[in-house]
Amino acid sequence: MKLTSYQQNLLSDTHRLAAFYEAINQKSRGVVYDLGTGSGVFSSWAAPLARFVYAVEQNHHTAKIAQKNLSTFKNVSLLVNDAKNIIFSENADLIICEMMDTALIDEEQVPVLNSVRKYLKEDGDIIPCGVFNGVEAVHLESKHTIYQEDQTPQPKLMSKLLIYDKIDFKKYIKEETEHQITIPINSTGTVSGIKITTFTLLTSKLICGPTPMLNPPLLIPTNNLNIEKGESININLKYSMGGGLDTIRASIETIP
Ligand SMILES: C[S@@+](CC[C@H](N)C(=O)[O-])C[C@H]1O[C@@H](n2cnc3c(N)ncnc32)[C@H](O)[C@@H]1O
Repeated sequence: MKLTSYQQNLLSDTHRLAAFYEAINQKSRGVVYDLGTGSGVFSSWAAPLARFVYAVEQNHHTAKIAQKNLSTFKNVSLLVNDAKNIIFSENADLIICEMMDTALIDEEQVPVLNSVRKYLKEDGDIIPCGVFNGVEAVHLESKHTIYQEDQTPQPKLMSKLLIYDKIDFKKYIKEETEHQITIPINSTGTVSGIKITTFTLLTSKLICGPTPMLNPPLLIPTNNLNIEKGESININLKYSMGGGLDTIRASIETIP
């Protein structure tokens, strides 16, 4: 397979790949859309099980690579376009869409699904089929929003993880979202940020936690609050799904 270094990283993430492989093997049939095909890997798995696969990629350089990688499949057609702009000629039994990002903020998963969902047959499936988003209060040194990667200093966790949102990809998703979350603090000190963790539901029975290339946890600075163990705080969190990290507004307050 021909690959860019970004695609090599995506394909070296074996936990991410194994989860998608399992789901694609279970659900592929009839007409499949693979939105954001990248290297074409998911289309190559779906093609032997499907009647026809529409592989969609908006980046022209990436699409050339996908074209080479998928050239041996007679039942795969590559559409080089923004998935939001495509008028599909037949409805889908399965939509695969991996434009995932932590809390769905920084990539186009939500706007793309909101545009393309109308082509899904009533009994059709989407991979992934949804996400759970969780939040923890943390003591954070960074003044900038960052992804928690292997080299990132670990923030001090000051609460348990609380699931604040569950999103079903088969239903319309409002892109602008706002949450007020009350969370008990379990250690005395300064809360100065939050950590968001996204769990991906590949199918209703297959869940995948963060992996290096699938939704690494997001560390977001807030104002500082000195809190005693046992007290609770409110987290006010607002962002636009698909709007980018600059749309995040996060603050914390004591409970009067
Ligand atoms: C995270 S990569 C996934 C690649 C491949 N499916 C995989 O999982 O290894 C997302 C891909 O979606 C493409 N993409 C992003 N937004 C898109 C859009 N609106 N329409 C079509 N492709 C898009 C990107 O260029 C990129 O190749």
